[in-house]
Amino acid sequence: MGTLTRTRRRREFARKLAFTVVFFIFCTFALVNYQRSKGKSTDASEQSPDDNVMNLILSALGSRNTTAFVKPGQNTLLFDSLILVANNPDKTDNDNRIESLQADPVKPPLFALVVVISEIGHEEERHVIRETWYKWTEKENVRVVFFLGVPPNQDIQNSGINDEVAEFNDVVVDDFEENYYLLSAKVLRMFKWFTTTYPHEGTRPKFLIKVDHDVFLNIPNLVKHLKREETQHNVHSDYIGGRLASSTGVKHNAREDSFIPTELLPDAGYPDYLVGGCYFLQSAVVPRIYEASLGEQLFIFEDIFLTGMIAHDKLGIQLHDVNPAGIVIAPTFAIRLFGWDSKTGIAYHPANAKLMKQYFEEANKV
Ligand SMILES: *[C@@H]1O[C@H](CO)[C@@H](O)[C@H](O)[C@H]1NC(C)=O
Repeated sequence: MGTLTRTRRRREFARKLAFTVVFFIFCTFALVNYQRSKGKSTDASEQSPDDNVMNLILSALGSRNTTAFVKPGQNTLLFDSLILVANNPDKTDNDNRIESLQADPVKPPLFALVVVISEIGHEEERHVIRETWYKWTEKENVRVVFFLGVPPNQDIQNSGINDEVAEFNDVVVDDFEENYYLLSAKVLRMFKWFTTTYPHEGTRPKFLIKVDHDVFLNIPNLVKHLKREETQHNVHSDYIGGRLASSTGVKHNAREDSFIPTELLPDAGYPDYLVGGCYFLQSAVVPRIYEASLGEQLFIFEDIFLTGMIAHDKLGIQLHDVNPAGIVIAPTFAIRLFGWDSKTGIAYHPANAKLMKQYFEEANKV
């Protein structure tokens, strides 16, 4: 009798011990994952912060003169495969551009133009995109263009970009000198390109979609979503949508990710904004944000500056939120463990080559 109870107790103890060990391992794993995901929560964290960050930020921004960075009215394009494709010497660059963006110029304008913000030296990312979600443009009235700047001290003639520009009908290179802290100005150069390419409403795509080159974009779901928005809201010249961020605190501690010196922004919190990995703008709102930003002091985070400070605060434009499962930026532990629904979702960030292929295959399965 006594022996039996002891055996039972021992078994019970072993079971509890095993459970505790498993639980402990799980917690450690979850904690490590949480720390990692926290570190990846915004674009800014790709740079590890140290005591020099403040000087880097302030020297990159200089006088913060947005106009001087963007150079409105000046042609700052170095390469544009869209002109080369249409290649009609009797037409203006813009007409050639529009013609190559719209395979058939008599067709109605594009429903959406997706602009992927990318860089020279990241042809692998562009290649993976062309092999995966880009292919959906064959079935939708949507086009994809890659918008690139120039890395500092880069010999552009030997960068291989010429070949890519000649081979694909989708590369635009601006002379903007790449700088992590000046992404706002780079996206404004893209807005400038969009505004000059489509000066008239008749040729404009309905929507401009801004994504980064590590975003998986489910184009059919995006189109469905925007068409639904068109019937539910009065989608006209002031529609912008994406993943809403509200009540985000400003990190004033130099040791934190996304650190912002008090000199740059003394406020404790940011305005509401749309997270930069993927957002969409009714195309008539693009020139409005572009022009409204020129008189303002440049802020380093592109999404906060353009969709928060300019669109929301200055122009009073409402930000339309997409369901959290629709656009995932910086996935939580649970999402990484159980996966993301690529069949119903719109965008996922960050996506490496493996995820891009996996999500594309999953989404195409019937
Ligand atoms: C900003 O730059 C533009 C263009 O370089 C210049 O015309 C303007 O005066 C500058 N503004 C300020 C406040 O420095």
